[in-house]
Amino acid sequence: MTHRTATLTIDGKPSIEMPIYDASEGPSVIDISKLYGQTGYFSYDPGFLSTASCESKITYIDGDKGILRYRGYDIADLAEKSNFLEVCHLLLYGELPDQKERDQFEHDITYHTMVHEQLQFLYRGFPRRAHPMAIMVGAVASLSAFYHDSLNIYDEKQRELSALRMIAKMPTLAAMAYKYSIGQPFIYPNNELSFAENFLHMMFATPCEKYKVSPKIVSAMDKLLILHADHEQNASTSTVRLAGSSGANPFACIGAGIASLWGPAHGGANEAVISMLEEIGDVSKVSECIKRAKDKNDPFRLMGFGHRVYKNYDPRASVLKESCHEVLDELGMHNEPLLKIALELERIALEDDYFVQRKLYPNVDFYSGIIYRAMGIPTQIYTVLFAIARTVGWVAQWREMIEDPQTKIGRPRQLFTGSASREFVPVEKRGAAKARSAA
Ligand code: SDX
Repeated sequence: MTHRTATLTIDGKPSIEMPIYDASEGPSVIDISKLYGQTGYFSYDPGFLSTASCESKITYIDGDKGILRYRGYDIADLAEKSNFLEVCHLLLYGELPDQKERDQFEHDITYHTMVHEQLQFLYRGFPRRAHPMAIMVGAVASLSAFYHDSLNIYDEKQRELSALRMIAKMPTLAAMAYKYSIGQPFIYPNNELSFAENFLHMMFATPCEKYKVSPKIVSAMDKLLILHADHEQNASTSTVRLAGSSGANPFACIGAGIASLWGPAHGGANEAVISMLEEIGDVSKVSECIKRAKDKNDPFRLMGFGHRVYKNYDPRASVLKESCHEVLDELGMHNEPLLKIALELERIALEDDYFVQRKLYPNVDFYSGIIYRAMGIPTQIYTVLFAIARTVGWVAQWREMIEDPQTKIGRPRQLFTGSASREFVPVEKRGAAKARSAA
């Protein structure tokens, strides 16, 4: 294999040869790990626009072409032909399961959906109006207090057990957060139901009656989970990897991922999109909103638009846009005003130079909230749903990192521009010192 290298020249003098590694898909990388040791310089890349933090075999994105593949399978194919638990198996183990593997995996997940009975007392410590994401961060990170037999990250069986537990218990914890907020009793998981239907059951059933839901809505929910399952090294996944690199237990790492996902620039955008559409209120006000989004002096951004990687239409948004119409038709809500506003917003933005030049397209969060809202899911649960789906991606990436012999604790450096060395001034002399420096 040819060993290509990149040469860095500093002040006109060739300073370091760095190896180039080729990808199986997408950009090659320049290994700069010896840069500081050989030149005394750090690389500088705030926000990691040009930095690969790791090697991975899980998810591939081509932002220019709008391609997203899990373990080589195109996202549109998986959304249309597979189901969420099959996709979980694919992300975790690298292959779609055969029938026997699929039955076993479904059994294993199903029989881990209950949570420890003591956990309900953690919930009762929160105010009823607590944001469900606040509860989820706390509840998931606290799982290490309950499941001591799956904390040893160097034991493959314990890694497997913690992975199954996290994927299986997220819907239960999420539904408990919702029930707690509305003062209804927690609903236990039902082992007869599929993953997506079980979540809807725990959310909307009561001890007094079952929750009846159309198979089309269950299938739409399953598709939403597939679309949100993984997305290479996004902010929350990078958070999980960094937390895991210190040897923290898997539950704590996923708790950290949930915290990062909550931000409106990331998973919190789906909730923010609905608030934005509701604030616009009418198709006639869309142009005003577009104007604000383009105004540099206005911090307002078009939520659900733009992406660090996609400089084309997010392939997940295309599938969600179609699913949106299907769900609204199924529920007899084809005149949903928010959808009309969203479609008009997209139409105007995609013709507007500001968005075209910056390659700003709808992303995964632009249509998902409209579907959740039609299903009767409260707005504050949208990002929780994102976390339920993304847990398999976080766990798969965390496990890949733990099993990577190259993994070291993540410890970035900095460009320091603070004060140079200063003498300590006792408090009784600081006033005078301040006056002198002000003069
Ligand atoms: C997710 O990383 C992932 O993979 C994430 C995710 C996943 O599955 O894990 O895909 C999920 O988080 C999707 C993104 C959800 N967030 C939003 O919808 C929030 C709105 N979007 C923006 O905040 C923004 O687009 C980001 C945060 C998504 C990306 O920001 P970048 O890559 O840092 O881009 P930038 O802020 O440097 O913007 C480039 C230009 C700027 O203008 P100029 O300075 O060049 O004049 O585009 C403008 C920005 O002002 N811009 C927007 C905009 N997004 C970028 N202007 C108006 N509205 C927007 N939404």
